[in-house]
Amino acid sequence: MTGLFVTLEGPEGAGKSTNREYLAEQLRSRDIEVVLTREPGGTPLAEKIRELLLAPGDEPMASDTELLLMFAARAQHLAQVIRPALARGAVVLCDRFTDATYAYQGGGRGVDVARIALLEQFVQGDLRPDFTLLFDLPVEVGLARAANRGRLDRFETEGRAFFEAVRACYLARLAAAPERYRLIDAAQALPAVQRQLDALVPALLERLGD
Ligand code: TMP
Repeated sequence: MTGLFVTLEGPEGAGKSTNREYLAEQLRSRDIEVVLTREPGGTPLAEKIRELLLAPGDEPMASDTELLLMFAARAQHLAQVIRPALARGAVVLCDRFTDATYAYQGGGRGVDVARIALLEQFVQGDLRPDFTLLFDLPVEVGLARAANRGRLDRFETEGRAFFEAVRACYLARLAAAPERYRLIDAAQALPAVQRQLDALVPALLERLGD
């Protein structure tokens, strides 16, 4: 039995967490086991790595350190949470995964994509998300929403050019593999975003039943 691996991607302030809860409710009301999780993090050890990654500090973090810590957290998360849940037949709804590494470390920091692809294969083998929901919205809207949430983490203090590169990378990945991605217009009000998610549920159920 294999479950379904669904990831939610997009910039800060796109409403991924709220919408992840909403999607989980839609699936649970149909008696489907749903595992809600996030990256970096998702296990106690991986959450410690997350703290290292997000805390602003005096020592600049080398981009390779950042990249390796993302994949170290991911290896732990896969072993402890994601693979066991998929083996049980659950739907895993994961807030960010390796697309974020391509977008932030690749697009934002300028890390060579070939190095990311190497680590992706090393850590994940052939495992890739079945569906990736890309919550897209203009950079300035996302940054304003994130700023309203209070203290900024190490990524949120980046400038506009960084987030434009992140967004461009996400959209390019969607264009290159449209069968895996679903574009969600996250600039709309919440009820309209949720209607977009409702429309997706049949496709998820069909895939789960395959
Ligand atoms: P979050 O605040 O949406 O939970 O995400 C934490 C931050 O980590 C966010 O700014 C994006 C960043 N990130 C990466 O840079 N690379 C990754 O691979 C992942 C999963 C997240």
